[in-house]
Formats: sequence, structure tokens, C-alpha cells
Amino acid sequence: MTDKSYTVEDVRADAPAEAPDELVAWVAEQAELCKPDAIYWCDGSDAEWDRLTSQMVESGMFVKLNEEKRPNSFLARSTPDDVARVEARTFICSEKEEDAGPTNNWHDPKEMKEILGGKFDGAMRGRTMYVIPFSMGPLGGPISQLGIELTDSPYVVCNMRIMTRMGTAALKLIGEGKEWVPAVHSVGMPLRDAEGNTVEDVTWPCNDDKYITQFPETREIWSYGSGYGGNALLGKNCFALRIASVMARDDGWMAEHMLILRLTDEKTGKQYHVTAAFPSACGKTNLAMLQPTIPGYKVETLGDDIAWMRPGPDGRLYAINPEAGFFGVAPGTQYGTNPMAMDTMTGNTIFTNVALTDDGDVWWEGIDDPMPEHLIDWHGNDYTKADAEAGKLAAHPNSRFTVPASQCPIICPDWEAPQGVPIDAILFGGRRATNVPLVAEQYEAAHGVFIGASVASEQTAAAEGKVGALRHDPFAMLPFCGYHMADYWGHWLELQEELGEKFPKVYQVNWFRKDSEGNWLWPGYGDNSRVLDWIVKRVAGEVDAVEGVTGLYPKYEDFNLEGLDEVTEEVWDKLYDIDPDAWAAEMDDTEEYFEQFGEKLPAQIAEQLAKFRERIEAAKA
Ligand code: GTP
Ligand code: SPV
Ligand code: MN
Repeated sequence: MTDKSYTVEDVRADAPAEAPDELVAWVAEQAELCKPDAIYWCDGSDAEWDRLTSQMVESGMFVKLNEEKRPNSFLARSTPDDVARVEARTFICSEKEEDAGPTNNWHDPKEMKEILGGKFDGAMRGRTMYVIPFSMGPLGGPISQLGIELTDSPYVVCNMRIMTRMGTAALKLIGEGKEWVPAVHSVGMPLRDAEGNTVEDVTWPCNDDKYITQFPETREIWSYGSGYGGNALLGKNCFALRIASVMARDDGWMAEHMLILRLTDEKTGKQYHVTAAFPSACGKTNLAMLQPTIPGYKVETLGDDIAWMRPGPDGRLYAINPEAGFFGVAPGTQYGTNPMAMDTMTGNTIFTNVALTDDGDVWWEGIDDPMPEHLIDWHGNDYTKADAEAGKLAAHPNSRFTVPASQCPIICPDWEAPQGVPIDAILFGGRRATNVPLVAEQYEAAHGVFIGASVASEQTAAAEGKVGALRHDPFAMLPFCGYHMADYWGHWLELQEELGEKFPKVYQVNWFRKDSEGNWLWPGYGDNSRVLDWIVKRVAGEVDAVEGVTGLYPKYEDFNLEGLDEVTEEVWDKLYDIDPDAWAAEMDDTEEYFEQFGEKLPAQIAEQLAKFRERIEAAKA
């Protein structure tokens, strides 16, 4: 077979009537570059899902799971070199280097376009180019945004169908003239070269050379070489965080790596809405689906990974979840600690890199059921006790489930409210074995931004790198901020000033503190409802707080520890053990981290650091 040529007329002939000319012309241009054998316009229907999943089962990319146990669900296994986000290969291609800032990899946009032009030339030979129209946020909502992803991966199509509002309805809005973000993706493994030599397809095509690129000024995304998660599902990090953070800066809103939940006080019926930013694989999905262990509260889930927040007509901050599904970490997920996640993924789920049981179901480390005698591990190999004893894992630590949010038993009835929900409190947290106490409230608005800016956390398997190493991850946005990090802090300070008292108070939380023997000091999970209880009591002005080094702390007697015998007053004191010397060292480190931002570091942040040091000195005295 030789390369097809795609004129605008050819593409128009097969395009849905809703597709505007501008889009058809762009698709034709990309098809001329990528040289696919066919173009397919996705409509988002059930029939399309059935066709694509069947094709993938046939090609070996999908394993169909047991229809009785896990209906309409599939397992995919990636190659070992394509299992997580690749931060070193992620680029912000702004006109000026200083606009990307020191925490991003910058590349000149013109030069990057040339590199990508070479990479994408013929990248889809032998494959189909899928055209995916999608909406981030409810269709037609005032905070929502539209996009088109072109991809040569049917796996991406099926995942995008779960994670976004994908198909004809989104295309219709684009046809009506709404703006859209172009996003081009290729796994980078053509099945034929320019000379016509062919290669066999593999079950997980990808390329050693990877480029995850964002162009903030032209609001474009180009991703090459990876088929996995945030590298390939371009509505997620690339759009809803990196590009959206730039849109948000320009238009006065916020794009954040945050879960959204509703907490209802069942006695009064009062509803509180909370967002929380934790770094990747640090507990957003868990908190979003929390089952309170204390009576009197109900939690409902609105989102588990991304929040777009905007000032409303009443001057409060309103949040929507731009996603339609959860792309959650599988290992560790179990009925014991996250029953709602388990009940969400009972069907219509794509699992990636988990283990397969002999009866066609899934298994991973930390799931409720003990390990069966025999499994197929995430490499596709036999796996038995001997492998476990040798320290091998059956599921990859960053293995994930993709599932519609609507299947969550506690999904909030307002999760698709186009205007969003008013936010009462914003939490920041990370994995901190030492120093950081259970919960602390900001002293003042700028201190809230300082709390976000100084987040540090032990690295997880969600990105390539050294797992466990403590690293700064300001606002849990280190890998996701599409512009200069210090300008982003400045943007937060501006919105705080604009909304004044109505801007939600910020809280620093830490579920991960350990004792000297390495045991968790705090039970976490459902018991985190006790922390939420204190926070909403503070929001409602019902309890006082104690002034501490890192912020305002709960009084022991105000904090609901009923039925939690393991957290004695002695344990509580350990959770609130503030070592002034350790904090002095941490502030030295934070100051050093801030130095890279130079002149751009907002004066208020430097001021907060000085105030923090004054509190340390006072604690020493
Ligand atoms: P991304 O999807 O990567 O952005 O991450 P996420 O923040 O949604 O991650 P997720 O909620 O899936 O994090 C799961 C990890 O956090 C697992 O290792 C859990 O065991 C751990 N975790 C969550 N909540 C708690 C808690 O309260 N205490 C402890 N000790 N671990 C927790
Ligand atoms: C994260 O890494 O924070 C994720 C998963 O939410 S991914 O979409 O792969 O980025
Ligand atoms: Mn995330």
C-alpha cells in the first residue's frame, strides 16, 4: 500500500455534517503530515465503543474480562518503558523562555514545531487517524472548554470516551463556532515506512523518543511516542491543567490539580464544598470518595483530579470538574479503605497494567482478596507466590483504572452543574513522614498561598523518577503548571485580593506522618472525616484555634477523636510535634528553592517566609 493523499474535499466527503470547514481543513493538513491509511470521526456512541473494543480484543491490545464479574471491561498491558508520565520529556514551548519558568522544560516553539514536523511525518502510516471531538466540563457549560484530539491509538479513543464528554454533541458545539484546542497524538510507531516496507503491529505500540509538548500562546498540544495516561489522553494534564492554567491566568480563573467533594452536615442539612490538591498518587481519589467514620456527615464526590474554579456573581469561588471519568491508581485500592472506588469499577472499566486472574478478573497488590495461586502479571507472564517472594509485583505501581464518574455510588447530584459549586475550603497536602502536622489553617490569605507554594512530598510511581525522594511540588502543580510558577502564585494572590473575605481559607493537611519506628501516626482514609469536621467547624466559626509555627491548630478538646482509641493524647502530641530546628532547616531549604524564581517571587511570599521564621524563633524561646 502507498500513502494516501488527503485534500480538504476528500476529508469533507467523509466528515460529519457538524464539522466546520476550519476543522476539516485542519484535519486534512494533519492527515497530509501523518499519512494515516484512513480517517475516522468518533461519534461517542455505544456501537462505536463495542466496535473498537472488539477490534482491540482481536488485535491483542485488550483482554476482555469475565463478563459476569466485570461486564464490558477490559485489560491493557503497556510495555515497561511506557508506564507513567515522562516529566523530562514534557515541554512548555512559550515564545519566551522566562514565561515557562525554571520549573518547566522550555523549548523554542518554532524549533519544536520543526522537530515535531519530522516526528509526525508519516507517523500514522498503516494506522487509522481517529478524530476525537471532546468537551472538558459539561457540554455547553459557561466554564467548559472544547478540544479535538487526533490520535492513532484506539486505546486512547476508548479512554477519552470515559474521561471526557466525547463525540457528536461536542462536535456540534465546535460547529456552532465555539473555540477549540487542537491536540495531536501519535504513539510513534508507523506500520510502514516511506519506501513501503512494513512491520508487524505490537499490542502496545510506542516509541523510545517521547515529546509531550504544550504551546501556551497558540493553545496547541502535540504528544508523540507514548500511549500511556496523561501522556496520551490529552484532555487531562496537557489541556485541563497545562493549557487551561494559561487560559485561567489570562481570563481570571484557576485550573488546579484538585479533587472536589461535598460534605453535608446531616443534622442541619448545611452543605460545604471542599477542594484539595495533593501530588500524584497521594490520596485525591481516596479523599474524594471518603466514607466518614464519624456520624452526622455525608460525603459526595464531584471530582478526583482536576478542578476549574471561577469567581461567581456572588463573589464566591465556584468549581467544576472538567473530567467525566476517573483515571485512578489501582494498587492499594480496596474495600477496606476505598469501598466507593471499588463499587465504581464493577463494569465498563478499562484497567491498565494490573494483574489478570485465572477466572478473567483483575488483581493488584493491596486489593482485599489474598493473592490467588496463579496470576498473569502486568508483563503478561505467569506469576505465583515464588515471584511475590522474590519481590516482583503483579501489578505495576502506577497501574490504573479508567471508569465513568457517573458510576460512583456517591457521585454528587450536582457534579455536572454547569456553574459549579461554591468552595468553602481549600486543602494542600503531601506525603510527609516528618515535620508537617495533621491539619493547620492559614493565618491570612497570603499565608495560604505560601502553604501551597511550599508543598513538598515524597515522590510516587505516577511519574518516572526516584520513588520516595522528597521533592518540592508547589500546589501539586510542579508537572502541570503551563507558565512561570512564581507568576502562578502571583495569580493566586490577585484572585485572593479580588474576592477578599470570600476567597476560601487554605488548610495544610498531612495523613502520612510516621513515628520513629516508621508506623503511621494517623489512621487516615475514613478517619480523615475528623479533619474535615474540624475544618468546616472553623469555616462556620464554631471553634477557636491555637496559634502554632506552621499555622492555626485544633485544640485537642475540640477535635473529634471519639472511638479512635489508637490516637491517644500522646499520639496527638506526636502529630503536633513541631521541632523548631527541623522547621528552621526546612525554611532554609524552602528559601533556597524560592531563589530560582528571582525577581518574580511575589514580595508577599518572601514576607510570609520571614513571618514563618519569626514564629520559629518565638517557639525556640
Ligand atoms: P493521581 O491520580 O496520580 O493524581 O493521584 P491521587 O492523588 O488521586 O492518588 P490516589 O488517591 O489514588 O492515591 C493513592 C495512594 O495514597 C495510595 O498509596 C493510598 O494508600 C494512599 N493514601 C490515600 N489516602 C491515605 C490516607 O489517608 N493515609 C495513608 N497512609 N495513605 C493514603
Ligand atoms: C497524575 O499523574 O497526577 C495523574 C495521572 O492524574 S496521569 O493522567 O497519567 O497524569
Ligand atoms: Mn493527577
